[in-house]
Amino acid sequence: MPDYPALAARIAALTAGETDAVALMATLACELHHADDRFDWTGFYRVVAPGILKIGPYQGGHGCLVIPFARGVCGAAARTGVTQIVADVDTFPGHIACASSTRSEIVLPVRDAGGALIGVLDIDSDRPAAFDLADATALAAILAATFGRPGVR
Ligand code: SME
Repeated sequence: MPDYPALAARIAALTAGETDAVALMATLACELHHADDRFDWTGFYRVVAPGILKIGPYQGGHGCLVIPFARGVCGAAARTGVTQIVADVDTFPGHIACASSTRSEIVLPVRDAGGALIGVLDIDSDRPAAFDLADATALAAILAATFGRPGVR
């Protein structure tokens, strides 16, 4: 488990005053990915049209470029607005396997200051059941502090 308070403080310092969403996503993908060796793919999918996610900044192997809200763990997080913690991706209906090594996944909705969905944060692990509620809570707080600031777009 990373030292989430220290990670949040580092991200806050690195992104202070920044409102460009892509710059913020790139910084978080980098800092989150290197914070924990459970994280084998760390990245964002952006809402680019109604019902459509498109890949954003990420760390790790190739990620698929486009995900409709109707598909995958990312689509489920975007469609429902609820964080998805998947202990075994092989049991998730419609899971999209960007890497055959992925065993578990967490996907969180990303919202702007007005509460509008602007994307999702996807973290994949090669370990089974790698993520828990503590990860979801800490990551959601980092996302809210970063993307919930006024003027992010
Ligand atoms: N596994 C995700 C797709 C994104 S790749 O893992 C980077 C999903 O099922 O939505």
